[in-house]
Amino acid sequence: MCGIIGYVGANALTSPDTLEVLLNGLNGLEYRGYDSAGVALSNGSLEVYKHEGQVSNLESMLPQSAPDSVGIGHTRWSTHGPPSDRNAHPHTDTHNRVAVVHNGIIENYEELKTTLQAQGVTFESDTDTEVVPHLIAAELEAGADEETAFRRAIDQLEGSYAIAAVFADSETIYAARHESPLVIGVSDEGNYLASDVPAFIRFTDRVIYIDDGQFVTLDRDSVTVTDSEGHTVETKTETISWSPEDAGKSGYDHYMLKEIHEQPAALRGCLRGRVNELERSITLDSIPPLEWEGPIMFVACGTSYHATLGGVQLLEERGMHAVAYQASEFEAARRPVGENSLVIAVTQSGETADTMRAMREANRVGATTVAVTNVVGSSASREADHVLYIRAGPEIGVAATKTFASQQAAMVLLASALHGEIDPELVQALRTVPDSIQTILDTSDAKAVAETYADADAYFFIGRGPQYPVALEGALKMKEITYKHAEGFAAGELKHGPLALVTDNTPVFATVIGDGPRARKTIGNIKEVEARSAPVVAITDGRSDVARYADHVLEVPEADDVTGSMLANVQLQLVSYWVAHGLGRSIDKPRNLAKSVTVE
Ligand code: AGP
Repeated sequence: MCGIIGYVGANALTSPDTLEVLLNGLNGLEYRGYDSAGVALSNGSLEVYKHEGQVSNLESMLPQSAPDSVGIGHTRWSTHGPPSDRNAHPHTDTHNRVAVVHNGIIENYEELKTTLQAQGVTFESDTDTEVVPHLIAAELEAGADEETAFRRAIDQLEGSYAIAAVFADSETIYAARHESPLVIGVSDEGNYLASDVPAFIRFTDRVIYIDDGQFVTLDRDSVTVTDSEGHTVETKTETISWSPEDAGKSGYDHYMLKEIHEQPAALRGCLRGRVNELERSITLDSIPPLEWEGPIMFVACGTSYHATLGGVQLLEERGMHAVAYQASEFEAARRPVGENSLVIAVTQSGETADTMRAMREANRVGATTVAVTNVVGSSASREADHVLYIRAGPEIGVAATKTFASQQAAMVLLASALHGEIDPELVQALRTVPDSIQTILDTSDAKAVAETYADADAYFFIGRGPQYPVALEGALKMKEITYKHAEGFAAGELKHGPLALVTDNTPVFATVIGDGPRARKTIGNIKEVEARSAPVVAITDGRSDVARYADHVLEVPEADDVTGSMLANVQLQLVSYWVAHGLGRSIDKPRNLAKSVTVE
């Protein structure tokens, strides 16, 4: 969702320039939204610059520098009102006394707006956010000082928000958080606030994570965090363990391609120190042995949900009952969650609103909750009872790639840990996956296959057992970055309806691992589509005779069903990448999407 950056330099002569910090931050946050971008600079008066589209559009209208200004900036993912200059943040009050940036949704904005309009306020945008500067201005007019006005305005809001405000005649940034991320960066050169660490990691690696309900005042040489009553809260400053280079493109054309290539390292990181083969035990950070009643419940969205489908299969195979819920449907599913339940929230970002709502509901009824996440300090990591970090490193491309691979590995670890014993063969197989992925990356024909089918009407993906979630994931990746129609199906389901969609211009990507009964059945399904003239691309480890029925083969090293699904997924990621590349799509920032979806 939207990205926020704020900066107060300690010293006009020696600290980084405000515009340099804001632009660096906006570029680092663009993965969160890129419908428009804007900044507000305060230096005795307020100057606001904003523009529809990507940050580069904004850059061309900015002054060269703003050395002594206090500034806030924003990249937008539209929720209320279409992408446009007028709906871009920051928003100001009528007299330009205060500028505000916001991430989240203000659910009661219509009531607030009606009241403000009745008081004579004219609105310039269609956004929910614009009520905030007008509310602050109303409090200033009633005689409140800036901090009090800010607090009183925030107190009137319902919904989710991270909000930052600067005033025309002050050197302080005020911010507040409720269900949207906010992190502070501290340094001798000045203080920073942002939706996520990549926004300021170039300037400081010392961070303070802000909790729901807290307020922040950011000054040139101090940061104060207070609770909703105004009492000062003791904060913990943590040091980030990754560097700015980790969040850069390292010579790749796109973050997505870089992150696909980082999968071997990401998986090694996920496994490191967690499996003791001699003792046949798994240690998952500080998660103690867990007890629960009823089914183990996963909640997740999108790609993370696909990882949980694999998790369910692993648990069920080990005799444990498990169910995966799309987090946005958790409430509607009338799930049997209670104080003895175990709920596992899988979320790369740790901020996805649908997943957080489901996890909070589980926390509310006293269930044991585990967050499987990539982001240290994220909301999920702080609100769950236990955390399993997937340790994939920062992922910037909106399309999840390496984090999915790491989630798949985490599911194997988690299933073994919950089962209480490890499957030595599976663990051994897991250890070979990084090298096998490297082999795929070095030899893949995915680019040629993508070029062959770049003009297809639609793309279908099929698989059975552990290959089924990968079929769903293959299709999601294809839709997300190529904007082409793509669907994933359980291989056996094709004949129950989707087969009607199959033509000679709808390639079918079929994953076939091994040569057992599952593989043979999938080959039967391949013959069905082949008989209807559809081109077939088989992703296979070559142990079956699927190549005889396929127009193209994308090979993966020999593997078992579970780790084979991880390997097949890499070939599918590459196919989607190269189709999107051929079509000239905005691969890292696909239209209408955002990396971190912090609204329901
Ligand atoms: C994946 O490519 C998508 N960008 C999306 O489906 C994503 O997986 C989903 O929004 C969940 O995100 P999370 O893992 O951060 O919770």
